[in-house]
Amino acid sequence: MDLNKEVIIKTVKNKSNSKFRNFPMVPRVVFGSGSFSQLGDILLPMRKSSDAPMIFLIDDVFENSPLVNRVPLLFNDQIIFISADEEPKTAQVDILVTKIKTDFQEAPSGIIGIGGGTLLDLSKAVAILLNNNGLASEYQGYDLVSKPAIYHVGIPTISGTGAEVSRTTVLLGPEKKLGINSDFTTFDQVLLDPDLTVGVASEQWFYTGMDCFIHCIESLNGTYLNAFSQSYGEKSLELCKEVFLGVLSPAESRDKLMMASWHGGMSIAYSQVGVAHAMSYGLSYVLGTKHGIGNCLVFQHLHEFYPEGVELFHKMMQHNNISLPVGICKDITEDQMNKMIKVSMHMVPLWENALGNNWRNTITPSKLRSIYNKI
Ligand SMILES: [Fe+2]
Repeated sequence: MDLNKEVIIKTVKNKSNSKFRNFPMVPRVVFGSGSFSQLGDILLPMRKSSDAPMIFLIDDVFENSPLVNRVPLLFNDQIIFISADEEPKTAQVDILVTKIKTDFQEAPSGIIGIGGGTLLDLSKAVAILLNNNGLASEYQGYDLVSKPAIYHVGIPTISGTGAEVSRTTVLLGPEKKLGINSDFTTFDQVLLDPDLTVGVASEQWFYTGMDCFIHCIESLNGTYLNAFSQSYGEKSLELCKEVFLGVLSPAESRDKLMMASWHGGMSIAYSQVGVAHAMSYGLSYVLGTKHGIGNCLVFQHLHEFYPEGVELFHKMMQHNNISLPVGICKDITEDQMNKMIKVSMHMVPLWENALGNNWRNTITPSKLRSIYNKI
């Protein structure tokens, strides 16, 4: 882009006081059982040269699995296996970006993330940082990214997080857990193959699926709700009920939860999440609790905020024979508790969505402490 054009765009951006958000969506998506086989054809036209590799970031649970043999490697493409045992971190993004820049003379043609929310978020962040100077933590926040990311593709292997459609990548940084929210974060291509979720452990399936269910409840009961979010949230909730309270075949469940996740993600795109997410961010920051289970641990105690949703949640737990761990916050120190409360109270848009502008009348440190103590 020539400099003048860039200056004009920046000026317009700064002067504009847009009331309505102009929201990016995933421009291309493939859906269908077995669609992973088409990945090679999808990537081919996006290859810049034989020296510009496609980099596949893959959850290390797939190391030595048949899926790896189906990855359409060409030229100097590289697979990097990554553990999803911990939530994604900004330092991890920086290390990956340095490694890719060191390993290859040419910039990659694309980044392909294959895995759950952790892998999808890492892929989005790596794609951004390959084209933007500095450290990942410098971009945690809202619209701090100035240059487009390199081509990036998301391929979920578990359903529920909505990371495949969102314009954020949530990262644990040195100072905060916060997303890189930008128009350049959204994937250029998503491939939804429900077969890839075969073999997910039943607890993990449930916890991640509940992330989606909780997105729906928090969006549909939020003060930010609008017809756009509602239309996606209602569809997603209907699908969650079919999956977690109905009697579907495993193949139907996989199809429907994948689409529930998509719609749930779309629902919060134009609104916000709420109490469970605000509090589970605190849990995750201090104790490293993973997002899906962290949301469940909090949500079970939120009767007063989401009475119908919490009742449904308990029915779903029962129907799927799930029992949550107890005593998570039993042995934490006073310092840890205070940190959890601080991180949680910092999530202002989430509280505003959940309870309106006067949320501080309800949400006090002692209120949060009483809920954390139940977990
Ligand atoms: Fe979530």
